[in-house]
Amino acid sequence: MADKKVNVAIAGATGAVGNQMIECLEERKFPVKNIKFLASSRSAGRELKFMGDTVVVEEMTEKSFKDVDIAIFSAGGGTSQKFSPIAAESGAIVVDNSSAWRMDPDVPLVVPEVNPHAIAGYTKKGIIANPNCSTIQMLVALYPIHKKVGIRRVVVSTYQAVSGTGKKAIDELFDQTRAIMNFVDYEKKVYPHQIAFNCLPHIDVFLDNGYTKEEMKMLNETRKIFEDDSIGVTATTVRVPVFFSHSESVNIETNSHITADEVKELLSVSEGVKVVDDPENNVYPLAIDAAGKDETFVGRIRQDESIENGINMWIVADNIRKGAATNAVQIAEILAEKYL
Ligand code: A2P
Repeated sequence: MADKKVNVAIAGATGAVGNQMIECLEERKFPVKNIKFLASSRSAGRELKFMGDTVVVEEMTEKSFKDVDIAIFSAGGGTSQKFSPIAAESGAIVVDNSSAWRMDPDVPLVVPEVNPHAIAGYTKKGIIANPNCSTIQMLVALYPIHKKVGIRRVVVSTYQAVSGTGKKAIDELFDQTRAIMNFVDYEKKVYPHQIAFNCLPHIDVFLDNGYTKEEMKMLNETRKIFEDDSIGVTATTVRVPVFFSHSESVNIETNSHITADEVKELLSVSEGVKVVDDPENNVYPLAIDAAGKDETFVGRIRQDESIENGINMWIVADNIRKGAATNAVQIAEILAEKYL
């Protein structure tokens, strides 16, 4: 890390991802000169800690970004749509975790293990987008295979944790579970159906083609990050009663043959990936083991015997860390080291 110290703002500092961003900056010893915690007027005046110091949360306004070098946003799409250009105009480089800017051709969409070179394109709008959580972990695992043999098609089903919806959803799963176990009525606030003891094949809004927006993000973002519009991705995204870490069943069809053992070997030396694959001893990636970690865990790697060139695997990562905060902080690290 360069010696240069950076003025950082966290927009959405009081949220689930914002909290994790603060922790990631601390853990990774990001070279912070000054830090600002921004949120809505509801949280103004709240006190949070950073490196042992107390930082008072400020309401995010148009004036919040004066003298800020890097603003990391996780405050929802609408907020980002409004405030990211204001922050960029004030001279900050924005790293945005929402979906507001991801498909803008003038905004790089970056997974540091896959396309760090794309960061250079931030100069067009002053904004860099952090991809969707399910896309990030899938691409960290698939990129080494794509580079080696070319992936033609991906069929993915996700099992996504409630923390991806934010703090209110974490509370909803906890409260519903407790209410049901105690035979007490509960109110549904976040999801349209009971999430405790249930699976909802519905993440983000439904689109005209019958897919959800989350499912289409996995296709569109994969193509943008891989810089390959020929790759096909078909997704079914499912919310499950898990607090942290998304799991994914992923089937790929490759251009040329690769064996399951070759995939294991390749992934075992790939950046950001940890192969956990010893089924004889009941060892495979688990959401509860991935929670709190930054790696993408891959297991159940096996040949798809129904096609000539196919592989199946199970990919798990902490959606709040690698799927959101860690990825954003990694981008900020590259900015600080190479571009500021
Ligand atoms: P607040 O806590 O004041 O509502 P989560 O995704 O966990 O729900 O967190 C969302 C984050 O985005 C919170 O920090 C929240 O602040 C922040 N936020 C929501 N709306 C705004 C807004 N209009 N301006 C600034 N921050 C916002």
